[in-house]
Amino acid sequence: MGITSRAISIGAESYSYSFGEDCLADIAEGIAGLQADTLVFVTDDTVLGLYRPIIERLSGSTPAIVLSHRAGESMKTLACLTDHLERALRAGATRRSVVVAFGGGVPGNLAGLMANLLFRGVRLVHVPTTTIAAMDSVLSLKQAINSPVGKNHLGTYYAPTAVYAEVRLFATLPLDELRSGYCEMAKNCLAIRPAALDRLRAIIAAGELAAPAALTWLLDASIEAKSAVTRNDTHERRSGLVLEYGHTVGHAIEICDHRVRGSAGIAHGAAIAVGMLVAAHISHARGWLGDDEVSAHYEIITGLGVEPCLPPTVSVADVLAVAQDDNKKGYLEARPESLPFVLLRGLGRPAMTGDLPLVHVSIQEIREALEVIAQPSPAASMAGRRLTAAAIPAAHGSARRTRHQGV
Ligand SMILES: NC(=O)c1ccc[n+]([C@@H]2O[C@H](COP(=O)([O-])OP(=O)(O)OC[C@H]3O[C@@H](n4cnc5c(N)ncnc54)[C@H](O)[C@@H]3O)[C@@H](O)[C@H]2O)c1
Ligand SMILES: [Zn+2]
Repeated sequence: MGITSRAISIGAESYSYSFGEDCLADIAEGIAGLQADTLVFVTDDTVLGLYRPIIERLSGSTPAIVLSHRAGESMKTLACLTDHLERALRAGATRRSVVVAFGGGVPGNLAGLMANLLFRGVRLVHVPTTTIAAMDSVLSLKQAINSPVGKNHLGTYYAPTAVYAEVRLFATLPLDELRSGYCEMAKNCLAIRPAALDRLRAIIAAGELAAPAALTWLLDASIEAKSAVTRNDTHERRSGLVLEYGHTVGHAIEICDHRVRGSAGIAHGAAIAVGMLVAAHISHARGWLGDDEVSAHYEIITGLGVEPCLPPTVSVADVLAVAQDDNKKGYLEARPESLPFVLLRGLGRPAMTGDLPLVHVSIQEIREALEVIAQPSPAASMAGRRLTAAAIPAAHGSARRTRHQGV
């Protein structure tokens, strides 16, 4: 109960992140303390439908403008941004206004850009209502919307004045959304902070993903893990790249599945969880990860209820085609038939090229690892149960046979 505050430092920027259970009164007090002349809330229709009284409570006696849009990624557009900006200005926003992002990462990104653009910069406060927003996007200065050509193409870096999270607001999240946050935490544990794995295992074993105490830990542990790699990396272009673990293949799986199933496709967290399995198999084939370390990936990921295989709508060839456009291209000198990739040499030990946690991985290595997980395996039907190394021998063995020496 109550509120905990952590100081977040990203390069030269710093802000406070306060979070807890039953802390709405503290959040309202914090927002009132900013002495804004107007609060410009940015949210979506689903969140507004659930939490309008909370928005009213957080505004207190400060005049508020509430801007809402349809829920979902399709609203991260220049058109929606322009519309919100115009409505804010017509409703009387000034240099002393504070933009309050109240919702998931989509309202958060739109609000971040609005705060940056209004009068060349007004104050920004995040009140995240999804686990992804609370433990990922608000711990980053990146603010972006999508162009018709691709995701997050139009953006900037902008720091909030403060972040406030009330974990009880996550109670209404669909399971897939809740799980996505825990999948990102699995990434943080496997790639950055393996010491946090035991607590994650305990939460999974107790089936307590939605418990306020577990969610408070999720935020605290994410802050610790993400801050460790972004503290000296404002733009997430050096040490922060380790946060891309599982994302090269995971993003490709997400894109391919959403092309077929639209918004009913695989959730971001589940997709990157499968991407981490692919990365683990590549590391295993190189002799960089042992059986136990690959098993730890399976144990956590299936424990979170993610099927450790490609969705039936997605083929190995589709994933490889999309992965070629991955946004980490350009960080390492180009090599034919290979991609920059985050791989581990042990839990919490990314493989480095110079000061970048990236290595070249050949398309052939990715294909072989994808083929291992392409089909639902016995492991898939064991989702939720603890796996031992012996439980994944077939998949494991075939990756092992295609051993590549490290580069
Ligand atoms: N800046 C960054 O570094 C960064 C990091 C991670 C993600 N992101 C961005 O964030 C977006 C994904 O975030 P997201 O998953 O929060 O998306 P989102 O904002 O679309 O929220 C997901 C869904 O959950 C609903 N929702 C939100 N809060 C709810 C609640 N408390 N109860 C019930 N439903 C609720 C929303 O209406 C929406 O349908 C992407 O656009 C991604 O690019 C940015
Ligand atoms: Zn992610």
